Amino acid sequence: MKRKLVAMTLAAVMGLSVAACGSGGDDKTADDGKNTEDNADGGAADDGAADDGNADAADDGAADGGDAGAASGDVANKDKPLVWFNRQPSNSSTGELDMSALTFNDKTYYVGFDANQGADLQGTMVKDYIEANIDKIDRNGDGVIGYVLAIGDIGHNDSIARTRGIRKALGTAVEKDGNVNSDPIGTNTDGSASAVQDGTLEIGGKTYTVRELASQEMKNSAGATWDAATAGNAIGTWSSSFGEEIDIVASNNDGMGMSMFNAWSKDNNVPTFGYDANSDAVAAIAEGYGGTISQHADVQAYLTLRVLRNALDGVDIDTGIGTADEAGNVLSDDVFVYNEDQRSYYALNVAVTADNYQDFTDSTKIYEPVSKQLDAAKSPSKKVWLNIYNASDNFLSSTYQPLLQNYDDILNLEVEYIGGDGQTESNITNRLGNPGQYDAFAINMVKTDNAASYTALLNQ
Ligand code: BGC
Repeated sequence: MKRKLVAMTLAAVMGLSVAACGSGGDDKTADDGKNTEDNADGGAADDGAADDGNADAADDGAADGGDAGAASGDVANKDKPLVWFNRQPSNSSTGELDMSALTFNDKTYYVGFDANQGADLQGTMVKDYIEANIDKIDRNGDGVIGYVLAIGDIGHNDSIARTRGIRKALGTAVEKDGNVNSDPIGTNTDGSASAVQDGTLEIGGKTYTVRELASQEMKNSAGATWDAATAGNAIGTWSSSFGEEIDIVASNNDGMGMSMFNAWSKDNNVPTFGYDANSDAVAAIAEGYGGTISQHADVQAYLTLRVLRNALDGVDIDTGIGTADEAGNVLSDDVFVYNEDQRSYYALNVAVTADNYQDFTDSTKIYEPVSKQLDAAKSPSKKVWLNIYNASDNFLSSTYQPLLQNYDDILNLEVEYIGGDGQTESNITNRLGNPGQYDAFAINMVKTDNAASYTALLNQ
């Protein structure tokens, strides 16, 4: 009991330290403070802390060498469990997977979600909405259904897939090199852009034109992508020059979608669609937000830590995933798939609309089928280094990290959360100066091409 409390307080403090990391310069201070504490871990000081309120079985976890809090010193960093999450090691131009990063060692995995399935779902959700609301969707009655699109990161495969999903469903897609072109078009009010085409939808015996009026990568001047503030500014610019033509607002994520909704579409009753099912976006469905997609972050956050746990315990990787563990944790195959060749776990997506949003109001709630505490005697406390590429990313900070913090206790993992600035890889890699202090690593890169900057540190 008491142990749990101590862990929860720790988690709260860690949450604060990550929040503090959001503002660049502060990181160092916050992080140095933690490292000082960590350095003390190897010795007697740690025993005091680890034993705090924990005179029983949990302590037996120390069977692995007497010090439950420190990394197991005899494993080389290059042989420790490693999980990439949310940003899959891949070529940011072609999307080709970086298999050397994904097979760094035999305990390496990726956890994300099925980007194509989710993208198709988002496109279909928007199309279904148009069909169901055709009597009021074409606001200026010109027979053209106009939409604008906020693009997150042109080099991120999730973002590319979502842009393609919208264009495919609405008939505005154009092929490029055998795939749907996902380039931003700038503005296209006259329908002349070459990266998209005007689509047509037949609804109730009438033919409507569908036009992508504008799209833009929402990158701020400092280089941060998926930038909500940039999206808020963009809708301001677009609406002031062709606002009456905008019938739908689509976004690669809810962070940008909500920024546009709050800045313009809510007041103008223009349905806005995002992705992630962050709590604020789900709540906004009651106020006219069109819908979002849950990428099952509750399943992903579990998988991210669970694969590390299993590798650390030396048990079958499927334990507590496709096969129930002793506590009864198990995932059914309607919420994830595992692709062995890609060493990747993919959570499945669910559309969240006015019909079902009541079931999704708290995005930080852990998934009940995998909510049972592991026995610390069999799965002793281990130290994990984990980074979030951008401490201010809406989805990762408001949904994913709180979920990780809920699961780390259940899985007996002591996780150090590092928050990056969203722009520079070195801001994060600089804080992986002493990998020997950790038993396992969970990495969320700034750029999907940059896996080698992390593996180089583990290879040293
Ligand atoms: C989420 C975005 C987020 C991005 C960060 C995506 O899967 O949908 O909201 O900004 O991950 O990498």
